[in-house]
Amino acid sequence: MATGIPPQKSNKRTKIPVSLSYDGKQPEESIISRTGIEFDEILPINGDGENILFYGDNFDALLFLLHNGYKGKIKLIYIDPPFATASDFVNRQMEHAYSDALCGGEYVEFLRERLILMRQLLTDDGSIYLHLDSKMAFTMKLIMDELFGEDNCRAFITRKKCSTKNYTKNTFGNVSDYIMFYSKGPDYTWNRPYEPWEIDRLIEEYPCIDERTGKRYKKVPVHAPGVRNGETGKAWRGKMPPIGKHWQYTPKKLDELDAAGEIYWSSTGNPRRKVFCDPSKGIPIQDIWLNYRDSINQAQKTTGYPTEKNYEMLKMIVCASSNPGDIVFDCFAGSGTTLGAAFECGRKWIGADKSLESIRAILKRFTAGLDVYGDYVSVPSECKQMTLEPDQKCSFSIYTTGELKPELKNLCEIKMELEAVRVSNI
Ligand SMILES: C[S@@+](CC[C@H](N)C(=O)[O-])C[C@H]1O[C@@H](n2cnc3c(N)ncnc32)[C@H](O)[C@@H]1O
Repeated sequence: MATGIPPQKSNKRTKIPVSLSYDGKQPEESIISRTGIEFDEILPINGDGENILFYGDNFDALLFLLHNGYKGKIKLIYIDPPFATASDFVNRQMEHAYSDALCGGEYVEFLRERLILMRQLLTDDGSIYLHLDSKMAFTMKLIMDELFGEDNCRAFITRKKCSTKNYTKNTFGNVSDYIMFYSKGPDYTWNRPYEPWEIDRLIEEYPCIDERTGKRYKKVPVHAPGVRNGETGKAWRGKMPPIGKHWQYTPKKLDELDAAGEIYWSSTGNPRRKVFCDPSKGIPIQDIWLNYRDSINQAQKTTGYPTEKNYEMLKMIVCASSNPGDIVFDCFAGSGTTLGAAFECGRKWIGADKSLESIRAILKRFTAGLDVYGDYVSVPSECKQMTLEPDQKCSFSIYTTGELKPELKNLCEIKMELEAVRVSNI
């Protein structure tokens, strides 16, 4: 792997900004100044909680939050919008959940309008994660750069979304999707996530054993690209750094490292630095995620909502980019994976979705519990699982608009039905 050398100041070029153009792209101000539909019907769930679930179009929910004291108050946004698949999605009972019909410029503007409002809601140290697949991820990366700034793109993550496929098409099996992670500004909340070491990987990554301490280590260069005229560009122990490189440390610091047994000398007299493994910490998670596939086996519990994302992945994101007590927001909430993860990790949450099936799934998550994912001819008794302990109720309020008032009756019935299941489950 080659590392580039930063250009000298005098050689720096001015960057020509890149933007995406399409018919119907509206000025930002006209989007922010729009008026939305009021949310004035409220249904409390599990008591009067501080968490909020909007049942309605998320554009209206975003405007409502902006006009009701949430500007600059949300620490973390994760969204997993429709992917422009031109498909309808049904739940495990084959009931219609949502349509994913928009495509091209219409899709881009639909999402861009909402992202503009989301940016207003974020705290200055807040972050946003946008989950898409290859269909729109690269187009939307340009929009994200326009709205949040290219320098605030902290990671472009590739996730393995499912198991290897027996593809019949003449191409490579499609098992990946993408998550873009942007911060609102230069300083942002970040709690580095780690995953536990697997022994094979530990041995592969840290192949050497230190004779003195018995600790595992790997060897890394003690030089870095670029020529320097100061101390780090001079000879150390009679040796100059390789051509075009400089020592990573001053000769004095290198002497100290050597005295502490942290320099490895090859038989030909080349120095390398020893980086020791600290297995208690685990491996910092990188930008390829292989361990967060969506419901793949019968052991996993889900609401049965289509396109439900991996719960452990959401918990990891929530813990990495927010702290206990912060507000986490998902306005394409679906089955409420983000909301469940936020609650379990001690964060407050706000969700929104315009599908009644989504609201049903979220109610189910927080009331009756999840089902095992597998297809069963005869359902085993351990199939139902309480998501939450009986005394650990997540209370929230469902806000909806006058337009959807008739649906409230529906929601009340669903709520009572689910509560009955919960009681029989305890
Ligand atoms: C891919 S699913 C989200 C799945 C979710 N991440 C989960 O883990 O269950 C996308 C969701 O966006 C919702 N949606 C699409 N357009 C919307 C809009 N304009 N307002 C609110 N929700 C919308 C759909 O109803 C659907 O539930």
